Amino acid sequence: MKKFIAILMSLLMVFAFAACADDTTDPTDAASNGDALTNGDTATDGDVISDGNADAEEITFTVGFDAGFPPFGYIADDGSYDGFDLALAEEVCKRLGWTFVAQPIDWNARDAELANGTIDCIWNGFTKNDREDLYTWTDTYYDNTIVIVAKADAGIATLADLAGKNVITQAASSALSALTNEDNADLLASFAELLETADYTKAFMELDQGTADAIAVDSGVANFYLASKDADTYVILDEPVASEQYGIGFLLGNTELAETVWEQVEAIAEDGTMAKIAAEYADKGLVVESLVLLNK
Ligand code: ARG
Repeated sequence: MKKFIAILMSLLMVFAFAACADDTTDPTDAASNGDALTNGDTATDGDVISDGNADAEEITFTVGFDAGFPPFGYIADDGSYDGFDLALAEEVCKRLGWTFVAQPIDWNARDAELANGTIDCIWNGFTKNDREDLYTWTDTYYDNTIVIVAKADAGIATLADLAGKNVITQAASSALSALTNEDNADLLASFAELLETADYTKAFMELDQGTADAIAVDSGVANFYLASKDADTYVILDEPVASEQYGIGFLLGNTELAETVWEQVEAIAEDGTMAKIAAEYADKGLVVESLVLLNK
């Protein structure tokens, strides 16, 4: 409702301004002009960023994320979007004077969202490995492992115990790539079935219901769910399935924007702000030691 009123107010202001500024201006022209109403420029318009004269136009930086990927991006108890990656992105925007927009996406539709410009980047525990050529990446900011989570009372303690079990993972995820990689061919062949789901919120529901016996998932997400339940609910197996790196992914060729953002991320690490932000997510599964810029 507040948003509606805000839009209404800005519409009225545009009409009023158009009317005062020039009698010959047709206010409907102003209203139909996306720039006037929506500040349509996004951070993708490299020219706006680089000319250093951003005061005239508001720059919006839209981060695509999967809202079921805690602690990097998720829906908090109060319904707001929260997460370590989103907090970092917001800090970058604050420093650059950009307007930050967190845009939840279907993880499987991320390439289309990026290509058609509905998002400026994917910043959400996004694994670079095997996708090096598909996006313009920043450097690595987080070292991740893909782990297996099972119910604590299921008698699953090693990867060998997954023989004959139903294992679930997120569609189009790096965990799925890891399990279907030839290095893990024997492991995969031992499963009863490898199931795919749209996001990890659903994967944990399947585990709770017993339709899946184990989840292959990024360690931060696994830690988050372990921390959210009683200590004896889930276990994380000691043997990881894969090691990988997180970066911020931009549309292939969008190097200028990637560099602009990364420069700020480095500054945020150097002046101690990243450590402060990380501390807020340490009890929600973030492994602070995995933040490579803090552990150089
Ligand atoms: N690191 C995994 C990948 O990049 C995570 C996939 C899960 N979804 C997500 N929203 N980050 O594929």
